[in-house]
Formats: sequence, C-alpha cells, structure tokens
Amino acid sequence: MFINLELNDLHPILNSEIVFSVLLMIFLLLLYFVMAKKPSNKVYLIDFACYKPPTSQIRSRDIIVKETAESGRFSEEILDFMKKTMERSGLGDSTYVAEVFFGKEYNPSMRDARREVEMSVFGAVDTLLAKTGVKCEDIGIVIVNCCIYNPEPSLCSIIVNRYKLKESIITYNLVGMGCSAGLLAIGLAEQLLQVHNNSYALVVSTESITENFYLGKDRSKFLTNCIFRVGGAAILLSNRPSDNTNSKYQLLHTIRTNTSSSDRSYNCILREEDTAGIVGITINKDLLYAAISTIKPNVAAVGSLILPLEEKLLYFINYIARKLKLNVRPYVPNYRKVVEHFTPHVGGKPVLDALQKTLGFTNDDMEASRMTLYRYGNTSSSSVWYELAYVEAKGWVKKGNRVWQIAFGSGFKCNSVILSAMKTVDYDEKNPWTDEISRFPVSLEDCEPVPVFFESPK
Ligand SMILES: *[C@@H]1O[C@H](CO)[C@@H](O)[C@H](O)[C@H]1NC(C)=O
Ligand SMILES: *[C@@H]1O[C@H](CO)[C@@H](O)[C@H](O)[C@H]1NC(C)=O
Ligand SMILES: *[C@@H]1O[C@H](CO)[C@@H](O)[C@H](O)[C@H]1NC(C)=O
Repeated sequence: MFINLELNDLHPILNSEIVFSVLLMIFLLLLYFVMAKKPSNKVYLIDFACYKPPTSQIRSRDIIVKETAESGRFSEEILDFMKKTMERSGLGDSTYVAEVFFGKEYNPSMRDARREVEMSVFGAVDTLLAKTGVKCEDIGIVIVNCCIYNPEPSLCSIIVNRYKLKESIITYNLVGMGCSAGLLAIGLAEQLLQVHNNSYALVVSTESITENFYLGKDRSKFLTNCIFRVGGAAILLSNRPSDNTNSKYQLLHTIRTNTSSSDRSYNCILREEDTAGIVGITINKDLLYAAISTIKPNVAAVGSLILPLEEKLLYFINYIARKLKLNVRPYVPNYRKVVEHFTPHVGGKPVLDALQKTLGFTNDDMEASRMTLYRYGNTSSSSVWYELAYVEAKGWVKKGNRVWQIAFGSGFKCNSVILSAMKTVDYDEKNPWTDEISRFPVSLEDCEPVPVFFESPK
C-alpha cells in the first residue's frame, strides 16, 4: 500500500508541521552529536576545600540586627525590614560576618578588604594543599573568581606570590561575574586542561563583603546586607592520567548559558548608586524572569547530555505531539534517574522552589543547599562547594554517583557542572561540616519567603 503511494498523495501532509518536526529532529540529533563529542583529555577533580572562618566571627541574627542598630546610621524602618528579612532568610544563628563589622564605626579600608579575602583564600588553599599533598611547583594554572573585590595586583598574583608558584604559571582573574562564576571557572579550567597536558589547575572561588555593606535607605539594595557572609573554596583539577586513581571526581560536563544580551536580564542585578549617591546592588522585579529564561536552556542542555536515551525519546515525542497541537501535558524528564546529588546555589527561595518542582527533586535532595544557607549564609560563588562538602560529610557520595552543581547570578548567567564520583568518599577531618554534621539537618519552620522590595525596572 505504501509502495503505491504517489508523491502527490503525500503532498498535502508534507506541510509545515511535519517538515518542521523532521528538520528539528535532524537538527537536534546533529546538535547532540556535536555536543556529546568529549574533549580528548580527561579532567579529574582531585579534591576541594572550603574555608571555615574562626568562631570569633560567628554572629547570630539578633546580634547582627542589634549591632546594625547601634551604629546609629539606619532608620527604624530599615532596621525593621532587616529584622523581618533575617527571620525569613533561611539563615541560622551561626553564620560568619567579616571582622570589619565588629568595630563601633563601619569604615572599611582597602587593607580590611584584603585581609578578609586573604583569610578565606589562604585558608581554603592551605587546606587543599594539605589534603592533596600536591606540590606548589607542580601547579600550572590558577583561576580566581571574586565578583566585587578587585585589587591590584590581582587576586591571582596574591596567590602566586604567597605560594611562590612557578614563573610559567598561567593565571586568569575573573571579576564582576556574579554567583555563577565559580562553576564558570571550572569550565575555563577544563578547557585550558585540553591544551596544557600534565597540569594541575587550581581554582579559587570567593567573595569579599567587607566593602559591600550598603549604607543607604533603599530596601532593595539593603537585602544583600542581610544575607551575604564570609566564605571561600579552593578546587584542584588535573589532567594527569595518573590521577585517575587518587581523584574524588571526574569532571563530565560543564554547561554555561547566559542572557546578557537581553536588557531585562542584564539590568536585573546591578551595582550602582542610589538617588543619594550611595553604592549598592539593585535587584529589580525582572529577576525571576531572567532566572527562568537563563536556567531553562541550561537545564535543557544538561538533559541532552546526561539523560538516558529513553527519557530523551519520551521528551522528544511529547515535544512533537505538543507541536502538532495534540492536547498533552509537557513531559518532565526524570533527572533523578541519572543524578544522585543535586547542589543548587543557595540563592533565592522562589527560584529554588521552582527548580525543585520542575526537575522533580524531593525535599531531601534540596537538603544540602538549604542547610548550607542556614549554616554559612550566602557565600556567593563558593556556596556550591560547601554544599558538596555537606553531601560528603553525610557519607552519601558513593563510587559512580553523579553530582549536579548549578549556580546562577547576575549577567544573567547560569552554569552547571556534572561530576562523577570515582570513589566512595570517606570520613575527612578537614571537611568544614565534619565535627557538627550530626546536628544536621535542622528543621526550618516553613518560613515565608524573604520580603523582597524590588525596584521597578527602568
Ligand atoms: C595532549 O594529550 C592528548 C591526549 O591525552 C593528545 O591528543 C594531545 O596531542 C596532547 N597535546 C600536546 C600539546 O602534547
Ligand atoms: C553565553 O552563553 C553561550 C551559550 O548560550 C556560550 O556559548 C557563551 O560562552 C556564554 N558566555 C558566558 C560569558 O558565559
Ligand atoms: C545570594 O547572592 C546572589 C548575588 O550574588 C543573589 O543573586 C541571590 O539572590 C542571593 N541569595 C539569596 C538567598 O538571597
């Protein structure tokens, strides 16, 4: 019957929908093969370390509000806003604040800011070197990311100078790139390790809050005062074939997306002066729009790389059906089948809730993220490493498990990293959670989301 079909009989259906679908299928397959082509050098994540500040820097929420009030700089209204925000932020009572806030007068200097960053960077790198036993002269690449603090010489130079790294060292200093830049730095290291054989790459992610306390009256800018805390992480990557026996993880994929060319995305998190000329970070109402339109393609790209064939097929058939205007619900692929540990950046409860729902992760899957926010606050780009440390301290990482780290922030950017555990991770006394892990998870009373006072987009 088919054989007798004349070309003409086919003609009526050879119209838009079908042709479009077939072309799309071919395109997606091609895209899949292009994207699935792995770089030739395998990249290992030997180990990582998170900085744990001294207990003298711990401040409870009440004390933070009290000390802010005592500074005498803020109106009752702003202090009230701060109090409410802190109650609902998901932060606990043992986060670390910078030393500069302990004096009576907040008057940060370049030296204070440098001290904060050096403490977290050196703290994390010292621990990492002690953990891995790697020699400083063997490190070939250093990448540092820190969004706002930008000294000269750069943070890379501070590290090269402190550890006396070799002259041929290759360094990259990423500034102003927001909370997702830590995973972006991992992607950069991966690419560099494709061209520099037999190398170690040291990646350091941190943020300085010393100079970032907003002193104005604008509530949308005041938000960052409430949730940013001290933190930093150092990660050691390698492409040496011999490291396949002593590394914790293999780096499978790094996926980066951004929507910076869209004005709405670009402007949604912006560091600028308020009407009184005081610098702060404005977060406007477009944040959710930007987050969704940037995270979506990132998640789709992750799916195309890691989902098993049957999940991709189900998704594709569903997609075609919806294109043909059949009345079916969008199919949500089951990421749980291929990812055992999910560690999204601590930022933004509404975004996290949406992400959790869309990807079908349970509350247990979100534990590492929520507990990290509770214990360490928003440490920006290093937060995903505190989360992975949490998962490790719980003893959850088994050989062959996959980890999905995802971070998003200003730009707007979203970056994902997929790791595969090369061994079952054991007890580690240098993990920042080790001596207190039995106290977690704590129950967070289902707190209302932070009362965000968004600026209206311009
Ligand atoms: C680096 O190693 C890869 C194999 O792992 C090889 O294909 C490539 O040619 C090497 N590059 C250089 C510059 O030696
Ligand atoms: C922006 O995203 C595109 C793909 O969506 C990617 O090729 C590019 O490298 C990204 N740029 C940054 C700065 O992340
Ligand atoms: C954490 O900080 C980033 C900015 O770097 C921000 O986008 C995010 O919303 C913050 N997280 C929370 C929980 O507010």
